[in-house]
Amino acid sequence: MTKFVASNRTRDTQTTERMVAPYTPVELESLVGRYGSPLMIIDCDTIRSQYRALQAALPGVGLHYALKPLPELAVVKTLKDMGCFFDLASSGEVDLVRRAGVAPERCIHTHPIKTDSDIRDAIRFGVRTFVADNVCELGKFVRHRKRCDILIRLSFRAEDTPIDLSKKFGCEPHAALGLLDTAKRLGLHVVGFSFHVGSQTATPVTYVHAIQTCIELINSARAAGHTGLSILDIGGGFPVDYRQPVMGIEEFCAPIREALGAMPGGVRVIAEPGRFIAAPSGTCVSTVVGRAERNDRWWFYLDDGVYGSFSGQIYDHACYPIDCLRTDAERVPAVLAGPTCDSIDVIDEHIELPLLEPGDLVVGRMMGAYNSACATDFNFIPRARVLAINVMADATVSAA
Ligand SMILES: Cc1ncc(COP(=O)(O)O)c(C=O)c1O
Repeated sequence: MTKFVASNRTRDTQTTERMVAPYTPVELESLVGRYGSPLMIIDCDTIRSQYRALQAALPGVGLHYALKPLPELAVVKTLKDMGCFFDLASSGEVDLVRRAGVAPERCIHTHPIKTDSDIRDAIRFGVRTFVADNVCELGKFVRHRKRCDILIRLSFRAEDTPIDLSKKFGCEPHAALGLLDTAKRLGLHVVGFSFHVGSQTATPVTYVHAIQTCIELINSARAAGHTGLSILDIGGGFPVDYRQPVMGIEEFCAPIREALGAMPGGVRVIAEPGRFIAAPSGTCVSTVVGRAERNDRWWFYLDDGVYGSFSGQIYDHACYPIDCLRTDAERVPAVLAGPTCDSIDVIDEHIELPLLEPGDLVVGRMMGAYNSACATDFNFIPRARVLAINVMADATVSAA
């Protein structure tokens, strides 16, 4: 029988019978009745279908799921069973893949700035491939040089992303060959380049530019005697529909595939998708705990908010599709607020909802990425329990 798995770092695993998404109101009410509110439901079938969709759009590209948006054991196990690889960025993430039984050869570590213990923990687990983007970071690998391969991360700033990672990380492309020379002098084994054009990127334009630039760099580096370059990592960033629809993944990846067609021989292409795989799998159910009429507007207070499952509104600049289970035709202009005492804890100030009452359920969709991962227990208000559904029958998963 397919299992449900519930976890929130403090409670025991729970399992029940199979249920499929999209959920009916009765199904959601029954899940909340059984597991409590707030609840973050993660559908592993959606994880599988997103992984397959990206695989089909990027054939031949080795997909390494970036754990950061949704570091859940059930998700890692689901992807492991699909043959996915993994992208790690901390010792905690190393620990999670270890607990999921993932072979270290299927993992890379891509945080550009690491502590020595991050590096040691990953090496001890068996990870070999790391990322660096500056001389200081290269220096940390000298003592481990026999056990490490390095990807040099490059910076390509995208105009069309709400999350610009290239201002914080990445060596400028014009400085890349100099960094390769330094690595060689230090006795390090550089095996390729990586980049991340930014998350929830609207168009593939920057990917194409970055791939073309990396191809030129690989050719120049090889000509200059850097013969070990055999990997190009095109990062994550693939977008999903929140309230605004985005390009479908097939259309988005078509120019990327074309650009990759010019790759010189002997270069393997990999990617580090997080959001695209995780976001559509997450449905957040919360409960109205109070209401008040203030300045001609109804305020509905939930048991979850921006310090909890809606944290992605702050950290990730995302705007989730939200509705309630009540179907009353009449709706009023409303404010949806979270449970903490802080004034920033407001989920939506311009939403139309029926006149909700304490006990009514509110549902947020597309909330699998960068939400429960960034949630806190501020005010000692417990974050939502995470419930994984449609976990494969043979997956024995314990509470995270
Ligand atoms: C190094 C690295 N790889 C992969 C990802 C995942 O990116 P996304 O969720 O946009 O696919 C991130 C996100 O911050 C990242 O920093």
